[in-house]
Amino acid sequence: YVVDKGNHRHFMEKEIYEQPEVISHALSHYMNFAENTIGANAPEIDFRAVSSLAVSACGTAYLAGLIGKYWFERYARLPVEIDVASEFRYREMPLQPSQAALFISQSGETADTLASLRYCKENGLKIGAVVNVQESTIARESDAVFPIMAGPEIGVASTKAFTCQLAVLASLAIGAGKARGTVSADEEKALVRQLAEMPRIMSRVLNLVQPQMESLSRELSKCRDVLYLGRGTSFPLAMEGALKLKEISYIHAEGYAAGELKHGPIALIDENMPVIVIAPYDRFFEKTVSNMQEVAARGGRIIFITDEAGAAASKLPTMATIALPNVPEIIAPMIFSLPIQLLAYHTAVFMGTDVDQPRNLAKSVTVE
Ligand code: AGP
Repeated sequence: YVVDKGNHRHFMEKEIYEQPEVISHALSHYMNFAENTIGANAPEIDFRAVSSLAVSACGTAYLAGLIGKYWFERYARLPVEIDVASEFRYREMPLQPSQAALFISQSGETADTLASLRYCKENGLKIGAVVNVQESTIARESDAVFPIMAGPEIGVASTKAFTCQLAVLASLAIGAGKARGTVSADEEKALVRQLAEMPRIMSRVLNLVQPQMESLSRELSKCRDVLYLGRGTSFPLAMEGALKLKEISYIHAEGYAAGELKHGPIALIDENMPVIVIAPYDRFFEKTVSNMQEVAARGGRIIFITDEAGAAASKLPTMATIALPNVPEIIAPMIFSLPIQLLAYHTAVFMGTDVDQPRNLAKSVTVE
């Protein structure tokens, strides 16, 4: 069927604003909201018996996998080995049939991801696929398919597929934790309740941050380089922010673990360098603020993406502070994705690039 832009200027904008709705589809596929339980287990993969998880994907799907790693290790106490598919397939890593493998792909057709999947299959691993296109090759060749329910994604820059991948990975990690006895029934209920709140909070945040992101994009469009920093699950998010900006605005951007700042990138900081710091008020907050201090001391211009508690706790001067509502830790990566996507989107629109079809990029990379 034909997908149109509705009232939006670009598919990317439409897809950003669809997130509250599609996330709610993704969540209801894996959760029972009447009982606040997760049903994310597929009989094909017995998480109780799995010794570790091998995860592979490309681009944005890989960054979703990196956030998933934090969740699987924390909630299911399951070690995760993750790599970009183009490395994974050639590393000749030793694999055991007691491991399970998870492949994440919006299209389900990415050549390197598919080759990694076949490599794991040959080694006797059970295969799970987190995909958007359920008829895809990756879905067909997997033992268990975990659909992300995002609906067709047309914009080359992935937005709603990313947050839906995260919602599914969170569900799988909690489900695996439940099966392995590392998530109690009470914890499961609390986490499901927190996830259930997400669509409502997403709608609120999209409206809240849009004007600020649009005005900031004018500043950003004048820059040659931008640095994104974060810790914990905000580290992969920093890389995702940088990827989104470079894909559609062609501004050079890097995402770094905040703790790595002093191991190199700090040399780049001057008064022309915007540094986007992603820091919810979590257990990493103080550490990230101390990195921010190092940026401020060198005249770097800080765009501080935090929450109300974080904005109140830091007194550092910033170029802009974006204060999102305080949200539970499990949903923070999805909520914090929204200002990041909008900032890249508005910067690209302001610069007049071809937002939905950026130069040199294809929606689905079916060649190596
Ligand atoms: C994201 O904005 C990208 N255009 C790209 O990195 C994409 O996520 C990657 O090519 C993987 O695609 P897939 O999810 O269809 O496998």
